[in-house]
Order: sequence, then structure tokens, then C-alpha cells
Amino acid sequence: MTDLRFKNFERIVFFTGAGMSAESGVPTYRGAGGIWREYNYEDYACQRAFEANPEKVWDFHDKRREKVSSCDPNRGHKIVADIQAKIPNTVVVTQNIDGLHQRAGAKDVVELHGSLWRVRCDPHEVNAKRENIVREDFTVPMSPRKCDCGSYWRPDIVWFEDQLDHRVVRRAREAIEECDLLVSIGTSGVVYPAADLPRIAVARGAMTVEINLEDTQVSHMYKHRLRGPASEILALMAG
Ligand code: OAD
Repeated sequence: MTDLRFKNFERIVFFTGAGMSAESGVPTYRGAGGIWREYNYEDYACQRAFEANPEKVWDFHDKRREKVSSCDPNRGHKIVADIQAKIPNTVVVTQNIDGLHQRAGAKDVVELHGSLWRVRCDPHEVNAKRENIVREDFTVPMSPRKCDCGSYWRPDIVWFEDQLDHRVVRRAREAIEECDLLVSIGTSGVVYPAADLPRIAVARGAMTVEINLEDTQVSHMYKHRLRGPASEILALMAG
């Protein structure tokens, strides 16, 4: 049996999804209790919905801000941050927008899908002045909803039909190309292009581990598939 403990590796990438935060009480997207079971993303999480009804889209994101701000990082987040502090070339590449890795102490987290805690002034009206301001905002509910220029602030999140920021993807790719261990944690692997990134580690011959409660559509590509709650498996690997 291969020794999968973190101390045997020098360049680790944690590739995380909503299951990483499930033990904190943040709902996942798919499966029982999933956000997309309750809400139609076309009405709440795409640019068209925002342009049609920004107040409704903000109401939804305020609910998410409220929920996440009532949750704390869990033991798994803390282990990830601790390994990053101990093994310097450790990078966290996350699909999560909740900021819990950072709250647990992780540094330079690569946020593929943006952040619930950033907003940008990105007006789409034809004659609007394009300010392109991006800033952190931790207000709950988010207030004020409009920038001084009169346009709505927009959550700096990669919504459905949006493109990922190519600079962010490049950082993720570079880290994954160089890693000797990639640990995927709590992602269903159905949202592209994020779901393709771990393949880079497979192609480079790195050790690859999938932590999840159950098999996923991409389980076959991992050398090791560890089943159980993220924090428990991470604690074993940290041992
Ligand atoms: P999903 O909700 O699709 O998948 C969550 C995964 O976590 C599932 O495979 C669960 O089995 C697993 N899981 C749940 N609890 C777990 C636990 N305690 N320990 C280990 N695994 C657990 O979430 P994502 O894959 O992150 O996009 O979804 C990808 C993207 O789809 C998200 O980033 C989001 C969404 O639309 C944006 O926010 C832009």
C-alpha cells in the first residue's frame, strides 16, 4: 500500500469543491439539499438573470452570504492550511466561493469560480462608463447594492455561461503541472473546465487522490479513491 501521508510529498495541490465545506454546514450544489435542487441557476446565477432582475439575484446572494458567514472553517480546512504552512510548495485550487480556506489560514488560494466576498462594477448598459472596479466586500446583506456611478455591483463570481479568468486558470495549471501530489476533495467533477484540471497531474505522473463520500464521474482517473468525510480522510493523511 502506498504511503499517502502528506509528509512524503514536496509539492501538493489541494483541488477542492463544495464537499470541502459541507462539514461546516455550507450546502453543496448537487445531491440532497443541494442549492441547484432548490434554485434554478438560470434565475439566480447567470449574467442574463442579473441583467433582468439584479435585486432578485442579490437577494439570493445575500442569503448565501448570510449562511456562509454563520459557518466556520472545519477541521479539514484547518488541516489544509496547516499542511500549506509546513510544506511551502502547497497550493489550494478551489471551486468554492465561500472564503473558508482563507478563514482557516490558507494563503494565496486560487479561486477558480471567484468569490462571494468580492464585487465588481461592471456595467452592461451601452453608454455606461466602464470602471472595472473589483473590491472585497464582507457586508451582510451586501450594502449598498449600487456603486457611486449608479450601476449595480455584481458578485465577482464565475456564473453559468461566464468564462473563467484566464490568469486564474494559468496559476492553477502551473501549480498542477508541478505538483507531486494532487488531492481532490469533495467535488462532483461535472463542471468544466475546472473538472479537467486534475487531468494535468495525471498526465504528468503525479500521485492523485480523490476524497469523496461516493464515486464521481471522474473517479476512474485517480490512482487512489478514499471514501469518507473530507476532514476524517485528511486527518489520516496528515498523521
Ligand atoms: P457539487 O455539489 O457538485 O459536489 C459536491 C461533492 O462533494 C459531491 O461529489 C459529494 O459527494 C461530495 N461531498 C459532500 N459532502 C462531503 C464530505 N463531507 N466529504 C467529502 N465529500 C463530500 O459541488 P462542486 O463539485 O464543488 O459553481 O460543484 C462545482 C461547481 O458547480 C461549483 O463551484 C459551483 C457549482 O455551480 C460556482 O459557484 C460558479
